[in-house]
Amino acid sequence: MRSILKEKNLNSKKILLRLDLNVPLENGKIIDTTRIDKILPTLNFLLKQKTKIIIISHVGRPKGKKVKELSLKPVGEDLRIKLNVRVKLIKENIYNIKNKDFFKKFNEEILILENIRFYPEEERNDNKFAKHLASLGDIYVNDAFSCSHRAHASIHKIPKYLPSFSGLQLDLEVSALNKITTEITKPITCIIGGSKISTKINIIKNLIPKLDNIIIVGGMANNFIEYFGNNIGKSIKEKNCFQIIEEIISISKKKGCKIIYPDDVLVSKDINGSSTNKELSQILDDDMILDIGPKTINKITDIIDNSKTILWNGPAGYFENPNFAYGSIKIAKRIIKNNKSNTIFSVVGGGDTVALLNKLKVMGNFNFVSTAGGAFLEFLEGKKLPGINALN
Ligand code: 3PG
Repeated sequence: MRSILKEKNLNSKKILLRLDLNVPLENGKIIDTTRIDKILPTLNFLLKQKTKIIIISHVGRPKGKKVKELSLKPVGEDLRIKLNVRVKLIKENIYNIKNKDFFKKFNEEILILENIRFYPEEERNDNKFAKHLASLGDIYVNDAFSCSHRAHASIHKIPKYLPSFSGLQLDLEVSALNKITTEITKPITCIIGGSKISTKINIIKNLIPKLDNIIIVGGMANNFIEYFGNNIGKSIKEKNCFQIIEEIISISKKKGCKIIYPDDVLVSKDINGSSTNKELSQILDDDMILDIGPKTINKITDIIDNSKTILWNGPAGYFENPNFAYGSIKIAKRIIKNNKSNTIFSVVGGGDTVALLNKLKVMGNFNFVSTAGGAFLEFLEGKKLPGINALN
């Protein structure tokens, strides 16, 4: 993997820059700008080298369709203000754009292609699509570590067609995670939460042999709660997970890794409601599980106290509603407390987790904060990530 930092003669080169600008949006407003802020050094470096920057990114999961709410427009606006340069969002169909258009028709310092996942070819890892994208630039830079676990065209295929480099943020994340995984101290506890159940549930199986405890919270915990014979009402869950959970339980027993899931939960009738603490046996058909309960929090904080390394990926509840931020806040506070007294080493990752920590203004209180969620877990698994492989 070659870093763009070491590359000479970048002057006037057209850089196709894959970023992860998948920031949380609400009514067209960015709720948390951490992922944007982290790539500012890369953009400043490329601007200083007098390159022409063409940003490629996705937001959300539009599944190959144009979704107005998932436009990169607010991101472009944020970049324009922060960098004080001209930024243009190109909404035209990608196939109608030609290399010579840059920067004659579009002469701004930074161009952003509209959400790349509006094109089904992106997630299909389509060769022709990647070739066309590659034809728009001279050099490709991947500075989206948090997307590098996806074998998608703009991550995995473009490097086939262009001289390709890693960006500053990707370099930083890979070297920090490499160091962490080689110097890790037991007992190791991994707390996995969030709402991207399908991304994470399959990873758990492979993490078991490396860990002492896996604490399952957030959306995925609902699948476990249901597996153990409880009603989960209207809560989010992933379909067809019984077999994978069975395997997780069986492997964890063989490998001596404890799987912990909630004993009690906070529920509501809808995501904007207030919270009621319930035992698992009390959950009704119209209840939604939105956070972990106090008994579960006590169990988790005890485990944190008895661990030497904590890896945390994904919030424990729907923290966007303060009534359900309680579990995540308690987890964060206990990790921070133990970090301050030097009894643990802590690594935190994931877009939502980072947004939560930013909201609490505690980002600087962990040993390492990764912007990556799924990519972070797959890296821990020891998997070769398609985006990194392609750079090699
Ligand atoms: C993330 O938020 O982890 C990355 O942007 C990847 O998003 P995805 O899980 O939708 O591929």
